[in-house]
Amino acid sequence: MTPPPGKAPAGFSGAHAVITGGSSGIGLATARRLAAAGATVSLLARDRDRLAAAADDLRRSGATVHSRCADVADPAALTAALGELTAAAGPCDILLSCAGVARPGRFTELSDETFRRMIEVNYFGTLYALRAVVPEMVRRRRGSVVAVSSAAGLIGIYGYSAYGPAKFAVRGLMESLRAELRAHHVHVGVVYPPDVDTPALAEENQWKPAETLAISGAIRPLHPDAVARAILTGIRRRRFIICPDPGTRALVRLGSLLFPLLNWSFDRKAAAVRRP
Ligand SMILES: NC(=O)c1ccc[n+]([C@@H]2O[C@H](COP(=O)([O-])OP(=O)(O)OC[C@H]3O[C@@H](n4cnc5c(N)ncnc54)[C@H](OP(=O)(O)O)[C@@H]3O)[C@@H](O)[C@H]2O)c1
Repeated sequence: MTPPPGKAPAGFSGAHAVITGGSSGIGLATARRLAAAGATVSLLARDRDRLAAAADDLRRSGATVHSRCADVADPAALTAALGELTAAAGPCDILLSCAGVARPGRFTELSDETFRRMIEVNYFGTLYALRAVVPEMVRRRRGSVVAVSSAAGLIGIYGYSAYGPAKFAVRGLMESLRAELRAHHVHVGVVYPPDVDTPALAEENQWKPAETLAISGAIRPLHPDAVARAILTGIRRRRFIICPDPGTRALVRLGSLLFPLLNWSFDRKAAAVRRP
């Protein structure tokens, strides 16, 4: 049954959830939970084989799954893929913009191309997906759009001068959208994961300067399913800020009070690495 405007479908039954970056990590874990709760899921990513394997895996557990390959940084390809997915499975009820990439490194050692790519994938990839689905949600006066930012989108961290600003930009975009889409009964959420145990984190760790490793070393990564659980709760309760762990929640709530203490602690850890 179609829920009234502004209401998320109870249990997500009959909802069409589109997940960019749905073939791995947080996106795949969320797709799995949404499918188990009754949603039809559409997965979007670049690598055809990994996407097909993820879709097959979900189908084996009884899910209805569609998938398309596209680079979220390519607006024409992304919009065409999203159009095909909605033609196949109906209008998008839930968008999770999860596709993203992190390349840490020292500011002076990162290439211009890396700075550009971080913004193109993380920020513009989210923007283009939103631009493709939001008008129809506004017209239907229902839907939920959730973007994945990062704890690195809340506080500047050593080694994240390319990735961090892109995730700050995602946060800014979602804050503006929240204010605009309220009147149209469209829920807007933004997720702030800390380190999460995914293939992306394993890749990212290989690029982290020693200082960044020292700062993040003490943090035990979350399981992607813990983030997925928080995202589903966030959508059900129409939460704007979605924090999967108490540390990030504290950062959101007490940010400017905690920053001096956190910066002091981060600076000490970074300095300890440089000490002979
Ligand atoms: N893991 C963490 O510690 C962590 C912490 C905070 C925030 N995040 C954010 O969480 C999101 C998911 O990350 P994850 O850790 O789950 O990573 P992951 O396991 O590597 O999954 C990333 C997904 O995004 C897709 N993707 C990457 N670049 C893409 C592009 N240009 N176009 C389309 N799809 C693309 C990947 O597939 P293809 O490569 O095949 O395209 C894959 O499906 C990202 O936005 C990341 O920044 C992660």
